[in-house]
Amino acid sequence: MVQTSSEHQVVQATSRLVNLPAYVFAWLDELKEAARARGAKLIDLGMGNPDRPIPEPIIKAMQQALDDPANHGYPAFKGKDAFRQAVATWMKTRYGVEVDPRKEVLCISGSKEGLANITMAYVGEGEYSLVPDIYYPVHSRATWLVGGKVHHLFVNAENGFLPSFDNVPDEVLAKARLLFLNYPNNPTGAVATREFYEKAVAFCRQHGIVLVSDLAYGEITFDGYVAPSILEIDGARDVAIEFHSFSKSFNMAGARIGFAVGNSEILHQLYAYRTNVGYGTPSAIQEGAIAALTNARLYLKDVVANYEARRDVVVHGFRSLGWKTESPKGAMYAWLPVPKGFSSAEWTEHLINTVDVVVSPGHAFGNGGEGYFRVSLVSPEEKLLEAIERMRQQGIRYE
Ligand SMILES: Cc1ncc(COP(=O)(O)O)c(C=O)c1O
Repeated sequence: MVQTSSEHQVVQATSRLVNLPAYVFAWLDELKEAARARGAKLIDLGMGNPDRPIPEPIIKAMQQALDDPANHGYPAFKGKDAFRQAVATWMKTRYGVEVDPRKEVLCISGSKEGLANITMAYVGEGEYSLVPDIYYPVHSRATWLVGGKVHHLFVNAENGFLPSFDNVPDEVLAKARLLFLNYPNNPTGAVATREFYEKAVAFCRQHGIVLVSDLAYGEITFDGYVAPSILEIDGARDVAIEFHSFSKSFNMAGARIGFAVGNSEILHQLYAYRTNVGYGTPSAIQEGAIAALTNARLYLKDVVANYEARRDVVVHGFRSLGWKTESPKGAMYAWLPVPKGFSSAEWTEHLINTVDVVVSPGHAFGNGGEGYFRVSLVSPEEKLLEAIERMRQQGIRYE
């Protein structure tokens, strides 16, 4: 029991929840609030929240679907037949991968939910998830929430942010259930080679580990680079599940829809878990997603060109301030080292306090991210230029 200010006794939440490392984005929100209270006009490049609207025909499809009472009841757990068929057609045309829409496709309410729920389905108390040590938070935090353990795999710029599987201790391997991979990567922008994926698939097959590929940025790639699906790799279908999202590809972050594809048994367990804790994704939203996939190339061209132009502005801007940084080939972020003398948190605070620019501190993505910061490409080019100009005027440089 804990004592509240009103002297009322409330039950404490589980130790697993209470003892989770602090969610850094909540701390960032507090910094932003304080800055706004002093009248700051913030340029917010913190969260990866797409700033542009959903393409009009997708909105129309959702509106029309809402007018139809057939879409008003509880949605099917697995998703509409038409949605799963649209996904199967997309997987074939985009990736050359055949999936059975009845057994190898599941509609989910955003990939974050799917990533958390696959963890619930597979990781028991004391069992392990393997996660590169710069990671999208849910890849580790869901495991901690179920009483599991995370074994972090070392990544850095020198290894292209692609971990080696050679040094995982035997006692961890014996209890390892999931391997999380995310390429194109948030926050580093790194992309995976086919050779890397082949090694990952072989490793998971050898040790009986489920390979979870988070392909949230599969369509957000630049300079002609095309991201593969893990299911293109021989043998992947025996061990892998892959999560796709509509949030970034079609600016549908607020609509909460994605899909999982891959091994039918693994998908079945995800489905089975989800039947206990929720329902399907709203039917009208699925109609919007069908419209998105049907004309995907048309919408993606604009979305990708826009992020690529923003990436160029940010990369050139930071280079002009002394940063030596490569142009990321995918995702929607720049991942940059903090100048000497600052921790990631101190640097983030410094930028908010001196130039009213919000970025994400690297340690929000695990201990491996300390010493870095992430700039999200979620503002128009003129705002990104203004952010760079504000830094220049304050004499900010990377030496
Ligand atoms: C790597 C990664 N995976 C998953 C997600 C969550 O996406 P969704 O909106 O589909 O839940 C994000 C969102 O930023 C992400 O960066």
